Amino acid sequence: MSSTYNIAIDGPAGAGKSTIAKLVAAKLGFIYVDTGAMYRAMALYFLENGIQPEDEEKVSAACGQIDISLRYQDGVQQVILNGRDVSGKIRTEAVGNAASVVSAYRAVRQALLALQQNLAKTSNVIMDGRDIGTCVLPDAQTKIYLTASSHVRAIRRYKELTEKGQMCNLEEIEQDIIDRDYRDMHREIAPLTQAADAVLLDSSALTIDQVVDGIITAARERGLA
Ligand code: DC
Repeated sequence: MSSTYNIAIDGPAGAGKSTIAKLVAAKLGFIYVDTGAMYRAMALYFLENGIQPEDEEKVSAACGQIDISLRYQDGVQQVILNGRDVSGKIRTEAVGNAASVVSAYRAVRQALLALQQNLAKTSNVIMDGRDIGTCVLPDAQTKIYLTASSHVRAIRRYKELTEKGQMCNLEEIEQDIIDRDYRDMHREIAPLTQAADAVLLDSSALTIDQVVDGIITAARERGLA
């Protein structure tokens, strides 16, 4: 038995996983681990080095040149790609879409698995992603599958991007979300799916506080002191 307490949150893009997980982490004194950021950092490397995300052979061959690590400053996760903090650079739709493509490849997933598992072994974590409850932390004490309708998720993403001053189009974002869901759910390795023992939370009509409380209640029911 591990001596740490782990909460796994999986779900599609834009379901609110990171917002919710950060709040739960702060309330419980856990470390928040955003695994999507790790895939995004890898995708950024390929984009910056002229490697097409669709070219599995080249992407796989380049994985050995990539070192990803996480750093925490005042509880905020920073993603380090080959010694460089790329936390800001990875937050674009282009990088998110490239991450969705390359995350289907075995070599890419393999490159990140041990890092994710070690973090959970050494600290109480709330970790979000697509395959955390099913593959990365199958023994997590609490598993949550957080979802929302694609329309609600598109509106949230649109607001997030426009608030940051990025130009975007709501219909395109919704289509991107639908395409991304399809890729993430239908890939051969570690597809997005609800673990059999995960609690399903649909955040479409819930407030952030309701979702946070729902997760903490689920964790207390599952042995969290
Ligand atoms: O959560 P996000 O949008 O930052 O994730 C970007 C992409 O990374 C997502 O479309 C699929 C991939 N991903 C994954 O395959 N497995 C994870 N555990 C996390 C993200």
